[in-house]
Amino acid sequence: MAAPSNRVLLMLAAFLGSLAIALGGILWLTKDIRPGDGVAQQGAVGGPFTLTDQDGKAITNEAFRGKPFLIFFGFTHCPDVCPTTLFEISEIMRKLGKDADHTAALFVSVDPERDTPEKLKDYLSNFDPHLRGATSTPDGIAAIAKSFRVYYKKVPTSGDDYTMDHTALVYLMDKDGRFVAPFNIKRAPEASAEELRRYF
Ligand code: NI
Repeated sequence: MAAPSNRVLLMLAAFLGSLAIALGGILWLTKDIRPGDGVAQQGAVGGPFTLTDQDGKAITNEAFRGKPFLIFFGFTHCPDVCPTTLFEISEIMRKLGKDADHTAALFVSVDPERDTPEKLKDYLSNFDPHLRGATSTPDGIAAIAKSFRVYYKKVPTSGDDYTMDHTALVYLMDKDGRFVAPFNIKRAPEASAEELRRYF
């Protein structure tokens, strides 16, 4: 038996596996949101929230009224996905130029024990200023995670340390705060900026 073809098969299996997970996530997110589903579709993902921003002030969904915005969940100790996402969103904001004021992005911590407003502020200073951060009490984060159907879980690492498993989707919300679709940031920032403009 030739080893290289086994490797190819394994890679193919891994690729198909991750594709299935990604598709499953999107189907799961949108299963209650079929067109023509009537009023029941509204609010299936997302909803009102009250959190604390990186300046220690209350931030609610009302702060985003009138603007399409992106919301996603993560934590400042995240080694890869979160900083990459924040970077991609910063690039989109840069492409929007002055129009970036017509949109917004909110990074919600799923690690409220470590992510204080100060910590978020310091972390976000590395990214575009249109990105805001939010944290809360563990109960407050559990509530918003539930309304956005976000999965997150503490995973112990070495010693007393831990990391967080979490849903890495970016959610596009419209001007009225309604969920539109998962937002694809894995494309040229110009294309993402163009899509956002359509919801202005
Ligand atoms: Ni992350």
